[in-house]
Amino acid sequence: MPQLFAVAYHQCRWNYRDDEDVAQVDSKFDEHDIPYDVLWLDIEHTDGKRYFTWDRMLFPHPEEMQRKLAAKGRHMVTIVDPHIKRDDSYFVHREATEKGYYVKDANGNDYDGWCWSGSSSYPDMLRPEVRSWWAEKFSTENYVGSTPSLYIWNDMNEPSVFNGPEVTMPRDAIHQGDAEHRELHNVYGYYFHMATAEGLVKRGDGRDRPFVLSRAVFAGSQRHGAIWTGDNSADWDHLRVSVPMILSLGLTGISFSGADVGGFFGNPEPELLVRWYQLGAYYPFFRGHAHHDTKRREPWLFGEKNTERMREAIRIRYMLLPYFYTLFREANTTGVPVARPLWMEFPSEEATFTNDEAFMIGNSLLVQGIYTEHAKRASVYLPGKESWYDLKTGTAYKGGKTHKLDVNEEGVPAFQRAGTIIPRKDRFRRSSTQMVNDPYTLVIALNSSQAAEGELYVDDGRSFEFQQGSYIHRRFVFADGKLTSLNLAPGHTQFSSECVIERIILQGLSTGQKSALVEPANQKAEIERGPLLLYSRQGPTVLTIRKPNVRIADNWVIKIF
Ligand code: NOJ
Repeated sequence: MPQLFAVAYHQCRWNYRDDEDVAQVDSKFDEHDIPYDVLWLDIEHTDGKRYFTWDRMLFPHPEEMQRKLAAKGRHMVTIVDPHIKRDDSYFVHREATEKGYYVKDANGNDYDGWCWSGSSSYPDMLRPEVRSWWAEKFSTENYVGSTPSLYIWNDMNEPSVFNGPEVTMPRDAIHQGDAEHRELHNVYGYYFHMATAEGLVKRGDGRDRPFVLSRAVFAGSQRHGAIWTGDNSADWDHLRVSVPMILSLGLTGISFSGADVGGFFGNPEPELLVRWYQLGAYYPFFRGHAHHDTKRREPWLFGEKNTERMREAIRIRYMLLPYFYTLFREANTTGVPVARPLWMEFPSEEATFTNDEAFMIGNSLLVQGIYTEHAKRASVYLPGKESWYDLKTGTAYKGGKTHKLDVNEEGVPAFQRAGTIIPRKDRFRRSSTQMVNDPYTLVIALNSSQAAEGELYVDDGRSFEFQQGSYIHRRFVFADGKLTSLNLAPGHTQFSSECVIERIILQGLSTGQKSALVEPANQKAEIERGPLLLYSRQGPTVLTIRKPNVRIADNWVIKIF
């Protein structure tokens, strides 16, 4: 289960140059009213690619830098790769050499390969004592300049060796128990990821869940953190292929994945960048990233119109955070992925089998990417017998057919499935951490029987206490003109939250109800009719129950009549 902040938007580039650059980028997000949660530092932040160190000319006060971000509820991620610079004055290398922790070459010497840090050796992550030693490196005492709001990115952990055969270690390199690299190449990166995640759990009081992004994966990597799809390019085709890649990872159990938004290599045209944000906002892991040699591409650099579009895309992600987090809970307990191919939700519809341009987020939301330049129209297949409601306008579309829709640059088509309820938080803040006490909006899309269901999972967003049952898990059921909140976690020490629901939007009501009554409080709530007004001025009329002010932690019923 990821921490809540990790499900929000991440801003990365190779590299944010120095302290000042970090402060600038951070304040520009605020200036442009764009939320973000995590600022990332790539390899250039280190002293000569010696991980766990800082280039003190560029980053003289790393703790202070992290504290400034943390004051706004934001986090930092630094990169830590497995190639250790063979430099006797570097403590990690000294210790690994003395303890005999490196992978050996066929002659029994410490294997020496070339990577970012030049001549390098690689800790043998297959050995439990090496993993414990590695994990210790992440304590705030050992990782000088780190604070508890710092998390980690593991890259090049396949492992990459620039001058190695097949760009990795030779097959006859030796690991513990005389096992050759050829036998275990595919698990090296997995164990590296595991050791890093364990290090973050152990650090401090061991209270917080880790966050580690890894490039190398193996079966089970979902237990240790997030994955990204590696170095893509700023091409429309790479935007398109990101979807089947993420869906495939999800089907293998790895839910928390994403592709570099914007494309790693090359400079995206503003239109492609905007489209990437609009699609990436629905990736389970949502991070903008760019290669060293590319032009800067923060969301405010391409004119007001494009800033607005990227802001809107990111804000939609923040609005949907309660829904995403609930889906991560489902993935955590059942393995069912957050992002799903259409056929997973509609297995009897052949029309969905080959469609990997559209996908589902959970069972309630269908997203259709736009993968071509200057697109004016999109063909969108909406499966099932029930209708679908456009996320922004509330316009209803029939299921079981392909719709030819007009599209513009303001967003990619996204629809809520009739019969579902999506929990949202609609107030915009600087970061997810600042949204914790904000009230919820429930968006109900009624099906043809005037019914709908959905869930909300909430915990402290950070610790492991949810494993002891400290969480709120509700099922919302709308039927017979009544919305009921049911407890899915009976008997648990409930995580306490004062959060209330401030708005309930009902789409697809066939009759003209005028009043809402909240029980057991026996209080009336205001009802309003009008368009949805989510980034759109027009649309069909929906019914909104204003300020029912029921707590998410309580049992209640709201009747409309
Ligand atoms: C390769 C990674 O895939 C990329 O994301 C990163 O920026 C570079 N290494 C530099 O660390």
